[in-house]
Amino acid sequence: MIIANWKCNGSKKMIHEWVKEFKGTYISSDELYLGIAPAYIHVEYLADSLTSNDLDIKYGVQNVDLSSGARTGAISLDMVHDMACSFSLIGHSEMRNIYGETNENISGKLDLIDKGLDVILCIGESAEENHNSKTKEVLKNQLQVLKGRNLAENFTIAYEPVWAIGTGQTPTSEQINEIHNFIKDVVQSSSGSNAVPKVLYGGSVDENNAQSFFNEDFVDGALIGGASLNGNSFAKIVNLYNGVD
Ligand code: 13P
Repeated sequence: MIIANWKCNGSKKMIHEWVKEFKGTYISSDELYLGIAPAYIHVEYLADSLTSNDLDIKYGVQNVDLSSGARTGAISLDMVHDMACSFSLIGHSEMRNIYGETNENISGKLDLIDKGLDVILCIGESAEENHNSKTKEVLKNQLQVLKGRNLAENFTIAYEPVWAIGTGQTPTSEQINEIHNFIKDVVQSSSGSNAVPKVLYGGSVDENNAQSFFNEDFVDGALIGGASLNGNSFAKIVNLYNGVD
């Protein structure tokens, strides 16, 4: 599973270039869950620009609210479905740190898993927490929102250490593998269904380091920010994942 998170980037002009670059490099694969989450307003334009019979790409949103109505600035599940989006990120560290999203907000949004939305829950520790060897404690706390839930195939976790996002720094691939194994264990023992979720890695993934992460047993794909903004780089990473480079 490979997901692009474009964050608050992009324009119609950028999309035009991106599609040309992506199509020129990407080698199609039927097996892969390949998703792109641009800004809401660009979803339809991107989907129209990318349309092609041999491309199976899912579109998604970077956030969704748990209900509709008097919630200025938010978008609801019905709106997400109207845009033909099939997934949403939830709990991205930028939503937690810039917009004050809490475990409680996130927990409410997780009900959307049962309403036909593919959910990617983002978790990760800060630099300070990492330096103080608090990583596992922090992740365990963030995973509390899953306690007793019945998790199905449409639920995925993205491990994104905050200090690795947009910095060019990453944990080693061995460290990532160990943390993913830990996350799978915690979720399996605390969820109602004993399900083992897919776990993606996110944080400064690029075409040079991606393969080393993909080689690890417990890495089920990647959530990519900066490197996904270039169609050529993103396609190269996806090709690496598919083993068709
Ligand atoms: P970068 O790939 O730019 O580090 O961003 C990662 C991320 O936050 C994806 O959600």
